[in-house]
Amino acid sequence: MPLDIDRARRDTPGCTEVVHFNNAGAALPPQPVLDAQLRHLHREAEMGGYEAAADAEETLAHTYAAIATMLGCAPDEVAVVENATRAWDMAFYAMAFERGDRILTSPASYASNYIAMLQVARRTGVTIDVVPRDEAGQVDVAQLASMMDDNVALIALTHMPTNGGLVNPAAEVGAIARDAGVPFLLDACQSAGQMPLDVGALGCTMLSATGRKFLRGPRGTGFLYVRRDWIERLEPPLLDLHAATWVAPDRYEIHPDARRFETWEGYVAGKIGLGVAVDYALEWGLDAIFERVQRLAAFLRQQVAALPGVTVHDVGRVQGGITTFSTEPMDAAALKHALRAHGFNVSVSPRSSTRLDAEQRRLPDLVRASVHYYNTRTEIDRFCAVVRDLLRAAR
Ligand SMILES: Cc1ncc(COP(=O)(O)O)c(C=O)c1O
Repeated sequence: MPLDIDRARRDTPGCTEVVHFNNAGAALPPQPVLDAQLRHLHREAEMGGYEAAADAEETLAHTYAAIATMLGCAPDEVAVVENATRAWDMAFYAMAFERGDRILTSPASYASNYIAMLQVARRTGVTIDVVPRDEAGQVDVAQLASMMDDNVALIALTHMPTNGGLVNPAAEVGAIARDAGVPFLLDACQSAGQMPLDVGALGCTMLSATGRKFLRGPRGTGFLYVRRDWIERLEPPLLDLHAATWVAPDRYEIHPDARRFETWEGYVAGKIGLGVAVDYALEWGLDAIFERVQRLAAFLRQQVAALPGVTVHDVGRVQGGITTFSTEPMDAAALKHALRAHGFNVSVSPRSSTRLDAEQRRLPDLVRASVHYYNTRTEIDRFCAVVRDLLRAAR
């Protein structure tokens, strides 16, 4: 069944205001996500924040159930946190690395994750080994298999990088990790809400994601999945009275489920909105969403690549909703600024967000145009016409 795009756009107030190709930054939320948050904010204002949260207990529990349904896991394997980075960090910094351990990762690593790896490498003496890319630009699975040995303590992979259309073969990597009994931490920040994610099929031990991107949830929300047999092996780097209980003056006990990775205080309206966003995505169907996103992005890539002065930089055997390109004579920041004035939202993907990849491929800062299922071919045609005119005028 094709998606009812008219309904998707009617559900999305922002569609009448802008052409939003910044879904990899923060997507436009649908009305039900906005309503759920506003409703809760009103209740907080009218009855008090603690009282409103107590009243919303079931709705809050549903957020875990919705995420679990989306990922194919149990609700108690899910922690809801502020963003994808915090989710990733809570898992990563909980690993008990020792000198001589190896972390295997890919050139598409996101800056925040790689900075954390560098910090832990400096502190503990672990080595970071970057698996090369294959001829299609994705992580080379055969090379990864050949790099495995008893010292590999973690495989950390970015599913879809922040700076392009690549979709890494996460399930193939997961199979290698599973065979070797090595934990696999998948950064699904850009893939959550864009494509189906089944943690069993992906073979991941831990998965981090954010609410505001392709899931269309509230800003300031994210989540972490940790497979049950790893939860108690991971001692969170930070603990509070929600993650642990102070059971005697000199003793605490850490929560036995994934709540150990959370903090007590948080954005309750956002947590509710996140559950609604997941329900909303599941209602449309993640297979159907991904199919349309891929089709729209392929069309955008093809149209924009045909414009004078544009070079598209996307790699990968499988590609998703992000398109990145460089332009002449305007640079990425100038074009983004000019597009904004014409009602088009894109973002700039700076070299520093994916430095390994940027240096290997000698990429400049890139314009990032990321589409979602509520975008249309008409919007892409208009976008390309404006990019063509802006570049022509700058020549
Ligand atoms: C691949 C990837 N990982 C992680 C993040 C970090 O997400 P957050 O800003 O929610 O911490 C991003 C954000 O752009 C990303 O693109």
